[in-house]
Amino acid sequence: MRKRMKWIGYTVAILLFIVSALAFLYCAVKVYVYQQPIHQPAVSSEKEKYHFVLVPEELDNDYWRLVEKGAKAAAKETDIILEYVGPKQANIEEHINIIEKAAASKVDGIMTQGLNEEQFTPIINEIVENNIPVITVDTDAPNSKRTAYIGTDNYYAGFIAGRALAEDTGGKANVAIITGSFAASHQQLRVQGFKDAVKKEKGIRVIAIEESNITRVQAAEKADKILKEHPEVNAFYGTSALDAIGIAKVIEQFHLEDETYIIGFDTLPETIDYMKKGTIEATVVQEPYEMGYRAVKMMVDLLEGKQVSSLNNTATKVIHKNDLPLRPARNYEVEP
Ligand code: BGC
Repeated sequence: MRKRMKWIGYTVAILLFIVSALAFLYCAVKVYVYQQPIHQPAVSSEKEKYHFVLVPEELDNDYWRLVEKGAKAAAKETDIILEYVGPKQANIEEHINIIEKAAASKVDGIMTQGLNEEQFTPIINEIVENNIPVITVDTDAPNSKRTAYIGTDNYYAGFIAGRALAEDTGGKANVAIITGSFAASHQQLRVQGFKDAVKKEKGIRVIAIEESNITRVQAAEKADKILKEHPEVNAFYGTSALDAIGIAKVIEQFHLEDETYIIGFDTLPETIDYMKKGTIEATVVQEPYEMGYRAVKMMVDLLEGKQVSSLNNTATKVIHKNDLPLRPARNYEVEP
């Protein structure tokens, strides 16, 4: 009996030892991975002055690829290493982890969005206090210590969308809004600006609001849901780049293009195609290429001690089908 107890004791001790060793190994690997620089210096060449990181809310989003394109063009002109890293699918926790990792690897500058005050402001402040400049791009964190902002005035952009809808529908519409995210400040501002712009219009009612998680698939699912639950809806407002595209797809499936008004955001090729067909009536133009390009140039100026203004709004306007083709400018992806 005593011999058996002894064996049980040994087995428990061995198991405890194995579990602790595994836990130790897991923590060590985690710390090691976290501390790895985003960029391995081995690929750097003598010629490159600085190393910047641009973190979008979603890596492969067509809108963000334009921001990246602008940033890469400026990086090439100024011999900068520019890394473009972000979550595969929009995810705030992952987004923040990537920013923290960039800061831990001591890059020379970080460009990213300030998606919400609660989670982004403390991180931005900490990074800036550790002497790494942060430029917010596309979405500002105005109460943080961010070094500068470059991007749309998102409240104004929402406001002009609301005015356009009011004018184009003659002040009569049952509106549904599909927004990229309820939690992101630029989306909230675009919704608020829109609501303020239509609030005095007696014939305009905002009937439903849904979230797409910035994907065209979810925008389409939500448009379908809205049409089933509220058949009286005859106008849609999509507040992020892929929302109007998802909405337009569903409106065509329901053969409702003639009686439904759609206004969206951005000038991605699919949006322009739907505008040419008349499914999407209007869109708010932003300047993603310009945001990326100027963010890199501003970051270089900052590091070289030049004066940079802290608030830099890029141009925003609403366009309709008769404004097409867009002028050939570096801001736009669409051919003239
Ligand atoms: C917004 C971006 C967003 C994108 C999503 C754009 O309108 O400005 O912040 O990530 O839409 O597709």
